[in-house]
Amino acid sequence: MASLISEMEIGQEKDRKTLPGPILLLGAPGAGKGTQAKELVKLWEIPQISTGDLLRANVAQGTQLGQAAQAVMDRGDLVPDSLVNDMVAVRLSEPDTIRGYILDGYPRTLNQAGWLDGRIAGRPESLPVVAVSIQVDYNQLLRRITGRRNCPVCQTIYNVYAKPPRISGICDIEGAALVQRADDTEEVFAERMRAYAALTEPVVEHYRALGRFAEVDGNRPIDVVVAGIVAAVERLRAL
Ligand code: AP5
Repeated sequence: MASLISEMEIGQEKDRKTLPGPILLLGAPGAGKGTQAKELVKLWEIPQISTGDLLRANVAQGTQLGQAAQAVMDRGDLVPDSLVNDMVAVRLSEPDTIRGYILDGYPRTLNQAGWLDGRIAGRPESLPVVAVSIQVDYNQLLRRITGRRNCPVCQTIYNVYAKPPRISGICDIEGAALVQRADDTEEVFAERMRAYAALTEPVVEHYRALGRFAEVDGNRPIDVVVAGIVAAVERLRAL
């Protein structure tokens, strides 16, 4: 009996180490957070929670939140913390987040990080947060942002320079006309970078100080970056 219990305990411990749990993808606009999150979703079968995507869906649906957020997003500033935290709280209460989730673009301020840390600390069943920061050079970020195109139907992310569709301007999967985000201009990108440096870089330092943190070189090809993130998460999860 004793050996059976210890085998169960070992199994549970192994499971805890391999379970994904909460994963944060941090990085500047265009660093590849969304691209990477979509690959990790396939691997770990946990949801991607992108606050940018959730806000854009609210804008498209014309909700009260969307109406409050649209002008802020269009000029490259951050939407107020209270609105974003409430939106994330609703999403995290859905049952598909139990095994873990990939937060893409959240938290972006120290206030948001404090809210998230408090929420996770209040759930002893949750694994601790693992944070990965994707590092990309400024000129590369600008090229990625201005070259990005999205499928409005399946949300696949393309890039006219690095990841073009087979037929120019058309989604390979849905055949839909690709669209460019309103904030993907050089001018708005500069504002987004200013917001990132002032408000989000302190969040990166916050998670670096907590310890379960890694930096990955995001200048490399997409599959190489994915492999780097997976290796980092597995290493940090086993700590
Ligand atoms: P959000 O949608 O989160 O935008 P972002 O953080 O600026 O990030 P992006 O979506 O632009 O880039 P990404 O890192 O996901 O890159 P991607 O994978 O697409 O936020 C938009 C706005 O919403 C904010 O400005 C703010 O107003 C508001 N908001 C959102 N969250 C908020 C929050 N928490 N608090 C307050 N406000 C919030 O890749 C970019 C391009 O590069 C693609 O074309 C892709 O194909 C290409 N690419 C990716 N990886 C590679 C690679 N390795 N090699 C070559 N090309 C690559």
